[in-house]
Amino acid sequence: MAILDPPPIRCRIGDLRLTYDGLLPLIGTFLCVAALTYLISTIQGAITVRNKRHGSRPPKLPYATPLLGHLPEFLKDTMKFLARATAKYGPSTPVRIQLLNRYMTLLKGAEAVTSLFKSSRDLSSEHWLVQVLVNAFGVEVTDAPFYLADDTGIANHPDPRSNMKNPEHRIFHLVFKSVHSGLSGVSLEEMERQLVRNLSSQIHHTDIKSDSWTQISDLYGSLIRTVAFKASVVSLCGPHVFERIPTFDADFWTFDSALPNLFKEIPRWLAPASYAARDKMKKHLQEWQSFAHEHYDVCQGQQDQREWEEFFGSRLMRTRHEFFQKMPLSKETIAADDLGLVWAATANTVPAIGWMLLEVLQRPELLQRVRDDIAHYVSLDPSDPTQMVVDIPNLCSRPLLQSIYAEVLRLRSGTVINRVPTSNDFHIRGWHFKKGEQIIVSTYDAARDQFVWNQGTIDDPHPVNEFWPERFIRYPDNPNSGPVLQKITQEQAEKTQDPMISEPTFSLDGTAGSWVPYGGGTRMCPGRHFAKKEMIVTMAIFLSAFDIELLLDKDCEIQPDLKYFMFGVMHPEGKIPARIRRRSFQ
Ligand code: HEM
Ligand SMILES: *[C@@H]1O[C@H](CO)[C@@H](O)[C@H](O)[C@H]1NC(C)=O
Repeated sequence: MAILDPPPIRCRIGDLRLTYDGLLPLIGTFLCVAALTYLISTIQGAITVRNKRHGSRPPKLPYATPLLGHLPEFLKDTMKFLARATAKYGPSTPVRIQLLNRYMTLLKGAEAVTSLFKSSRDLSSEHWLVQVLVNAFGVEVTDAPFYLADDTGIANHPDPRSNMKNPEHRIFHLVFKSVHSGLSGVSLEEMERQLVRNLSSQIHHTDIKSDSWTQISDLYGSLIRTVAFKASVVSLCGPHVFERIPTFDADFWTFDSALPNLFKEIPRWLAPASYAARDKMKKHLQEWQSFAHEHYDVCQGQQDQREWEEFFGSRLMRTRHEFFQKMPLSKETIAADDLGLVWAATANTVPAIGWMLLEVLQRPELLQRVRDDIAHYVSLDPSDPTQMVVDIPNLCSRPLLQSIYAEVLRLRSGTVINRVPTSNDFHIRGWHFKKGEQIIVSTYDAARDQFVWNQGTIDDPHPVNEFWPERFIRYPDNPNSGPVLQKITQEQAEKTQDPMISEPTFSLDGTAGSWVPYGGGTRMCPGRHFAKKEMIVTMAIFLSAFDIELLLDKDCEIQPDLKYFMFGVMHPEGKIPARIRRRSFQ
C-alpha cells in the first residue's frame, strides 16, 4: 500500500513551505484567478468594441495570466497566437497585446495597414531599430547612446525639434540615403550585373556533370543556399569576404539560426552558442573591413566613378564606410551594423530563391512553362562560355515569373513590421494609439485575409494557404482571375479607371495593405527592386544550367521551417534530396 501512496512533494518558495496537500488549493486558486482574469478581460474587450467612439483605445485580447499577459501563449506558439489575435473582434479591429511589461497593438485589415504606412510622418522606427541592432546584431551597448542621440529623422532636413547639430552624425539619415540611392538606378544595375557574373562563374565551376546525374542529399542546404548567398554577398561586398574568410557562408547560416534566441533577449549564459555565432560573424566582418580599408581609401568618395570595385563591393558599401569613419563608433559596432545589412540583404532573399525553385520543381507542368518562358532571355556568352547573358528587364517582366515571385513572398514571408507613434494623438480609423507604444503588422496573417484574397472558384479552389502560381495574373477573358476577390477588383478598376487588358498581365491591384512582405511607407524595404531581380534571375540561371529532379516521397510537400516565423521569409524545412545534371543550352 505504501508504495502506491504518492510521496509528499515539497517545494520551497521563499518561506512558504508546501506539501502535496497544500499544493492542490494553490493550483485551484491559480486556475480560479486565470479563469476570472480571462472572463474579466473578455468582458472588457467586448465592452470596448461595443462602445467604440472616436478616440477609443483598441480592445485588449483576452488573456488568462495576470502580470504575464499573453507572454506564455506567445512563446508557446507565436503563429497560433497571432492567428487568434487576427481573428478576434473581426478582420479590421486592432487588438492590444501584453507581453509581460511590453504593450503593443496588432493592426489588421488592408485599409488600416495602408493608413499606417501613409502616416509615416507621425511614426518612427529608430528606437526599435537600435534595440534590434543591439540585441540581435551585437552593436555595443556603449555605442547605443550615439545612435539614440540622433533625433533628426531620416529626411534630408533635420527635424526642427532636434538640437543635434553635427550633420556627419545623422546616422539614420545617412544610412537611409545610402541604401535608397545604392539600391536604385545605375548602382542597382551594376549590382545586378555582378550578380549574374558571379552566379555564372560559380555554376561554371561546380563539379556537376552533363552526361550523368549527381545525387545530392540537400538541394537547398548544400547548393542553392550557398550559391545564392555567395553571389548576393559578392554583389554587395565584393569577393574578398570569402577569400579572407572561407567559412563565411556556413557561419552566416549558423548565426541566422541563432537569431530567434537573440531577438528574444535570452541571456548569454542561457544561449552561449547563439552569442558565439554572432561574435564570430562580427570578428569575420572586422577582418574583412580592415583588409578593405588597407587596400582602398574610402575618403576619395565620389571621385571614384565606378559603381562597384573589388574591395568594398557596391557603392552602397563604400559610402557606408566613408560616413562610418567620421563617427565615433567602435570597430565592433561598425561590424555589427554591417552584419545587420548583410542579414537584411540575404536572410529573406536566399530562402525566397530556394522557394522559387522548389515550388516550380515540385510541379512538372509549371516547370515546363517556366523553362519555355526563360529560354528567350538567358543564353551563353559566345565569346566567353563561362558567362551567361541575361536580359534582366524583359525576363523580370514576364507575367508568370512575376506571379510566382509574388506568390512565394505572399506564402512564405512571416515578418512582423513595427512602427511607433511619435505624438499622443495618433489615430487610425477612429482608434487611438498611445505615443511610444509599438504598432505591429503581421505579414503572414495579412497575406491570408479571406476577405481580400482570390481563393479561386468552387470548381477550381485555391485556398489562401496554398501555392497558386497564377494567383497574381489577370486574364482578359476571366473576371475571376487576379490576386483579390472580384468585388475588390471591380472597386479598384472604377477608382483607377483601369484600361481593359488585352493579354495576361501581372497584377498587384487591390493587394495594398495585404501583400506587404516589404512593409510600406517611407521605411519600406529599399532592397525590394534588387530582391525581385535576384529571385527571378537566380531561378532562371539555375533552371537554364541544370536539369534537377527532386527525390521526395510522393505526396510529400516541402514545408516552411516555423522556427524562422517572425524573422522574415522562412527556410524550407529538412533536407531536400535531388539529382542534378548540367543541361546543354546555347
Ligand atoms: C525578398 C527579400 C526581402 C524581403 C522580404 C525584405 C523585407 C524587408 C522588410 C519587411 C523591411 C522592413 C520594412 C518596414 O519596416 O516597412 C525591410 C527593410 C530593409 N531591407 Fe529588406 N527585404 C528583402 C530584401 C532586401 C535586400 C536584397 C536588401 C539589400 C540589398 C534589403 C535591405 C533592407 C534595408 C537596408 C532595410 C531597412 C530600411 C529602413 O529601416 O529604412 N532588403 N526589408
Ligand atoms: C564569385 O564568388 C566567389 C565567392 O563565393 C568568389 O570566389 C569568386 O571569385 C566570385 N567570382 C566572380 C567572377 O565574381
